[in-house]
Amino acid sequence: MLAIIGGTGFNGIQGFKEVGFKRIATPFTKNRVIIQLYSNNSTTVAFLPRHGKQHSIPPHKVNYRANIWALHAIGVKSVIAINAVGGINLKALPEAFILPHQIIDYSYGRNTTFFEDDLDHVTHIDFTFPFAEELRLKLREAFHLCNQNSAIKRVLLDYGVYGCTQGPRLETAAEIGRLSQDGCDIVGMTAMPEAALARELKLNYAMIALCVNWAAGVKDEKLDMDKINHIAQKGMEFASQVVSEFISLNS
Ligand code: HPA
Repeated sequence: MLAIIGGTGFNGIQGFKEVGFKRIATPFTKNRVIIQLYSNNSTTVAFLPRHGKQHSIPPHKVNYRANIWALHAIGVKSVIAINAVGGINLKALPEAFILPHQIIDYSYGRNTTFFEDDLDHVTHIDFTFPFAEELRLKLREAFHLCNQNSAIKRVLLDYGVYGCTQGPRLETAAEIGRLSQDGCDIVGMTAMPEAALARELKLNYAMIALCVNWAAGVKDEKLDMDKINHIAQKGMEFASQVVSEFISLNS
Protein backbone atom coordinates (compact mmCIF):
# COMPACT_ATOMS: atom_id res chain seq x y z
CA MET A 1 0.00 0.00 0.00
CA LEU A 2 1.00 3.60 -0.65
CA ALA A 3 0.94 6.21 2.11
CA ILE A 4 0.87 9.96 1.85
CA ILE A 5 2.35 11.95 4.73
CA GLY A 6 0.75 15.36 4.39
CA GLY A 7 2.52 18.53 5.39
CA THR A 8 1.23 22.03 6.14
CA GLY A 9 -1.86 22.78 4.04
CA PHE A 10 -2.21 19.33 2.46
CA ASN A 11 -5.66 18.08 3.38
CA GLY A 12 -6.70 15.30 1.04
CA ILE A 13 -6.21 13.66 -2.33
CA GLN A 14 -8.12 14.88 -5.34
CA GLY A 15 -10.79 12.42 -6.44
CA PHE A 16 -10.41 10.37 -3.25
CA LYS A 17 -12.83 10.12 -0.32
CA GLU A 18 -12.05 9.29 3.27
CA VAL A 19 -13.46 5.79 3.77
CA GLY A 20 -12.24 4.97 7.26
CA PHE A 21 -9.27 5.03 9.56
CA LYS A 22 -7.01 2.77 11.58
CA ARG A 23 -5.78 3.37 15.11
CA ILE A 24 -2.38 1.77 15.51
CA ALA A 25 -0.61 1.16 18.82
CA THR A 26 3.17 1.61 18.69
CA PRO A 27 5.94 1.32 21.29
CA PHE A 28 6.62 5.06 21.00
CA THR A 29 3.54 6.77 22.42
CA LYS A 30 0.53 6.05 24.61
CA ASN A 31 -1.75 7.53 21.97
CA ARG A 32 -2.48 5.39 18.97
CA VAL A 33 -1.49 6.77 15.60
CA ILE A 34 -4.56 7.53 13.53
CA ILE A 35 -4.11 6.73 9.87
CA GLN A 36 -6.87 7.80 7.52
CA LEU A 37 -7.80 5.64 4.57
CA TYR A 38 -8.69 7.30 1.28
CA SER A 39 -10.22 5.55 -1.69
CA ASN A 40 -11.31 6.34 -5.24
CA ASN A 41 -13.22 3.02 -5.43
CA SER A 42 -10.37 1.17 -7.13
CA THR A 43 -7.38 2.09 -4.95
CA THR A 44 -7.07 2.69 -1.22
CA VAL A 45 -4.18 4.67 0.19
CA ALA A 46 -3.16 5.63 3.70
CA PHE A 47 -3.01 9.26 4.71
CA LEU A 48 -1.23 10.64 7.73
CA PRO A 49 -1.24 14.39 8.41
CA ARG A 50 2.20 14.91 9.90
CA HIS A 51 1.17 17.83 12.13
CA GLY A 52 -2.03 16.12 13.32
CA LYS A 53 -5.57 16.60 12.07
CA GLN A 54 -5.82 20.04 13.68
CA HIS A 55 -2.31 21.04 12.60
CA SER A 56 -1.24 21.34 16.24
CA ILE A 57 2.02 19.33 16.37
CA PRO A 58 5.12 21.44 15.63
CA PRO A 59 7.97 19.93 13.56
CA HIS A 60 10.23 19.10 16.52
CA LYS A 61 7.36 17.40 18.38
CA VAL A 62 6.16 15.16 15.58
CA ASN A 63 6.47 11.55 16.71
CA TYR A 64 8.30 10.44 13.58
CA ARG A 65 9.02 6.97 14.95
CA ALA A 66 5.39 6.28 15.86
CA ASN A 67 4.20 7.54 12.46
CA ILE A 68 6.60 5.46 10.38
CA TRP A 69 6.16 2.41 12.61
CA ALA A 70 2.36 2.63 12.27
CA LEU A 71 2.52 2.94 8.48
CA HIS A 72 4.80 -0.08 8.31
CA ALA A 73 2.47 -2.00 10.64
CA ILE A 74 -0.50 -1.63 8.28
CA GLY A 75 1.50 -2.89 5.30
CA VAL A 76 2.65 0.35 3.69
CA LYS A 77 5.54 -0.19 1.27
CA SER A 78 5.95 3.28 -0.25
CA VAL A 79 5.58 6.79 1.15
CA ILE A 80 5.12 10.10 -0.60
CA ALA A 81 5.91 12.95 1.75
CA ILE A 82 4.45 16.38 1.10
CA ASN A 83 6.42 19.24 2.66
CA ALA A 84 6.30 23.01 2.69
CA VAL A 85 9.77 24.55 2.42
CA GLY A 86 11.64 27.82 2.06
CA GLY A 87 13.65 28.50 -1.09
CA ILE A 88 17.42 29.09 -0.97
CA ASN A 89 18.36 28.32 -4.58
CA LEU A 90 16.98 31.16 -6.72
CA LYS A 91 15.24 28.55 -8.87
CA ALA A 92 13.30 27.37 -5.81
CA LEU A 93 11.07 30.41 -5.87
CA PRO A 94 7.80 30.69 -3.94
CA GLU A 95 5.08 28.56 -5.61
CA ALA A 96 7.67 26.28 -7.23
CA PHE A 97 7.73 22.54 -6.54
CA ILE A 98 10.88 20.58 -5.80
CA LEU A 99 11.62 16.87 -5.90
CA PRO A 100 14.64 16.78 -3.59
CA HIS A 101 17.32 14.18 -4.17
CA GLN A 102 19.51 14.80 -1.09
CA ILE A 103 19.26 15.87 2.55
CA ILE A 104 21.53 17.57 5.05
CA ASP A 105 20.26 17.18 8.60
CA TYR A 106 20.74 20.13 10.98
CA SER A 107 18.03 19.04 13.40
CA TYR A 108 18.89 17.84 16.91
CA GLY A 109 17.36 16.19 19.95
CA ARG A 110 14.92 14.12 17.91
CA ASN A 111 14.51 10.35 18.14
CA THR A 112 16.30 9.39 14.99
CA THR A 113 16.38 5.58 14.94
CA PHE A 114 14.51 2.37 15.65
CA PHE A 115 17.82 0.62 16.26
CA GLU A 116 18.80 1.50 19.81
CA ASP A 117 17.47 -0.94 22.42
CA ASP A 118 17.84 -4.72 22.66
CA LEU A 119 20.02 -4.91 19.59
CA ASP A 120 21.51 -8.20 18.43
CA HIS A 121 24.07 -6.19 16.52
CA VAL A 122 24.71 -2.57 15.62
CA THR A 123 22.78 -1.64 12.48
CA HIS A 124 23.79 1.02 9.98
CA ILE A 125 21.48 1.72 7.08
CA ASP A 126 22.79 2.80 3.69
CA PHE A 127 21.47 6.35 3.32
CA THR A 128 23.74 7.53 0.48
CA PHE A 129 20.64 8.32 -1.55
CA PRO A 130 17.92 9.19 0.95
CA PHE A 131 15.06 9.25 -1.57
CA ALA A 132 13.78 6.37 -3.71
CA GLU A 133 14.78 7.33 -7.25
CA GLU A 134 12.03 5.29 -8.89
CA LEU A 135 9.36 7.11 -6.87
CA ARG A 136 10.96 10.48 -7.64
CA LEU A 137 10.84 9.82 -11.37
CA LYS A 138 7.21 8.70 -11.20
CA LEU A 139 6.33 11.83 -9.25
CA ARG A 140 8.04 13.90 -11.92
CA GLU A 141 5.96 12.21 -14.61
CA ALA A 142 2.74 12.78 -12.65
CA PHE A 143 3.69 16.42 -12.08
CA HIS A 144 4.27 17.07 -15.79
CA LEU A 145 0.98 15.42 -16.73
CA CYS A 146 -0.91 17.62 -14.25
CA ASN A 147 0.93 20.70 -15.47
CA GLN A 148 0.00 19.93 -19.09
CA ASN A 149 -3.67 19.87 -18.11
CA SER A 150 -3.50 23.03 -16.04
CA ALA A 151 -4.07 26.62 -17.17
CA ILE A 152 -1.50 27.79 -14.62
CA LYS A 153 1.93 26.33 -15.34
CA ARG A 154 3.94 25.46 -12.26
CA VAL A 155 7.71 25.40 -11.96
CA LEU A 156 9.33 22.10 -11.00
CA LEU A 157 12.91 21.71 -9.85
CA ASP A 158 13.47 17.98 -10.22
CA TYR A 159 16.48 17.85 -7.91
CA GLY A 160 17.49 19.65 -4.75
CA VAL A 161 19.30 19.37 -1.46
CA TYR A 162 16.89 19.67 1.47
CA GLY A 163 18.41 21.22 4.62
CA CYS A 164 16.43 20.10 7.66
CA THR A 165 16.47 22.61 10.51
CA GLN A 166 15.13 22.16 14.03
CA GLY A 167 12.45 24.84 14.17
CA PRO A 168 9.91 25.76 15.12
CA ARG A 169 11.48 29.18 14.66
CA LEU A 170 12.59 30.16 11.20
CA GLU A 171 16.29 30.55 10.51
CA THR A 172 18.53 33.61 10.75
CA ALA A 173 19.93 35.06 7.54
CA ALA A 174 23.39 33.83 8.58
CA GLU A 175 22.09 30.30 9.12
CA ILE A 176 20.59 30.32 5.64
CA GLY A 177 23.92 31.66 4.31
CA ARG A 178 25.61 28.66 5.86
CA LEU A 179 23.05 26.23 4.44
CA SER A 180 23.55 27.82 1.03
CA GLN A 181 27.32 27.37 1.28
CA ASP A 182 26.75 23.76 2.27
CA GLY A 183 24.81 23.29 -0.97
CA CYS A 184 21.22 23.33 0.30
CA ASP A 185 18.61 24.39 -2.25
CA ILE A 186 15.64 24.38 0.11
CA VAL A 187 15.05 24.45 3.86
CA GLY A 188 12.38 22.75 5.90
CA MET A 189 11.89 21.23 9.34
CA THR A 190 10.36 17.81 8.80
CA ALA A 191 12.31 15.61 6.36
CA MET A 192 14.41 14.21 9.18
CA PRO A 193 14.34 11.81 10.85
CA GLU A 194 11.27 10.82 8.82
CA ALA A 195 13.22 9.82 5.70
CA ALA A 196 15.84 7.86 7.67
CA LEU A 197 13.25 6.01 9.73
CA ALA A 198 11.44 5.04 6.54
CA ARG A 199 14.72 3.64 5.21
CA GLU A 200 15.29 1.72 8.45
CA LEU A 201 11.98 -0.08 7.90
CA LYS A 202 12.76 -0.52 4.18
CA LEU A 203 9.96 1.74 2.96
CA ASN A 204 10.41 3.51 -0.38
CA TYR A 205 10.27 7.20 0.43
CA ALA A 206 10.17 10.27 -1.80
CA MET A 207 9.09 13.86 -1.29
CA ILE A 208 7.34 16.54 -3.25
CA ALA A 209 8.08 19.89 -1.64
CA LEU A 210 6.25 23.17 -2.19
CA CYS A 211 8.21 26.35 -1.74
CA VAL A 212 6.07 28.79 0.24
CA ASN A 213 8.61 31.56 0.95
CA TRP A 214 12.13 32.74 0.31
CA ALA A 215 14.35 31.48 3.10
CA ALA A 216 15.55 34.15 5.57
CA GLY A 217 17.74 36.81 4.00
CA VAL A 218 17.61 35.41 0.45
CA LYS A 219 15.57 38.41 -0.69
CA ASP A 220 15.13 41.81 0.86
CA GLU A 221 11.52 41.24 1.89
CA LYS A 222 9.63 40.58 5.10
CA LEU A 223 7.90 37.27 5.74
CA ASP A 224 4.23 37.75 5.01
CA MET A 225 2.18 34.99 6.68
CA ASP A 226 -0.95 35.76 4.66
CA LYS A 227 1.01 35.38 1.44
CA ILE A 228 2.62 32.15 2.69
CA ASN A 229 -0.77 30.69 3.63
CA HIS A 230 -2.21 31.61 0.26
CA ILE A 231 0.71 30.00 -1.60
CA ALA A 232 0.45 26.91 0.63
CA GLN A 233 -3.28 26.54 0.01
CA LYS A 234 -3.09 26.92 -3.79
CA GLY A 235 0.06 24.85 -4.11
CA MET A 236 -1.18 22.02 -1.92
CA GLU A 237 -4.32 21.77 -4.08
CA PHE A 238 -2.02 21.14 -7.02
CA ALA A 239 0.08 18.70 -4.98
CA SER A 240 -3.13 16.79 -4.28
CA GLN A 241 -3.72 16.50 -8.06
CA VAL A 242 -0.16 15.29 -8.56
CA VAL A 243 -0.63 12.61 -5.91
CA SER A 244 -3.89 11.53 -7.54
CA GLU A 245 -2.19 11.33 -10.96
CA PHE A 246 0.70 9.40 -9.42
CA ILE A 247 -1.75 6.86 -8.01
CA SER A 248 -3.55 6.37 -11.32
CA LEU A 249 -0.25 5.96 -13.15
CA ASN A 250 0.78 3.26 -10.70
CA SER A 251 -2.38 1.25 -10.14
N1 HPA B 1 12.49 27.52 6.87
C1 HPA B 1 12.25 26.32 7.43
N2 HPA B 1 11.13 25.64 7.21
C2 HPA B 1 10.23 26.16 6.37
C3 HPA B 1 10.44 27.41 5.75
C4 HPA B 1 11.64 28.12 6.02
O1 HPA B 1 11.87 29.23 5.50
N3 HPA B 1 9.34 27.66 4.98
C5 HPA B 1 8.53 26.57 5.13
N4 HPA B 1 9.05 25.67 5.97
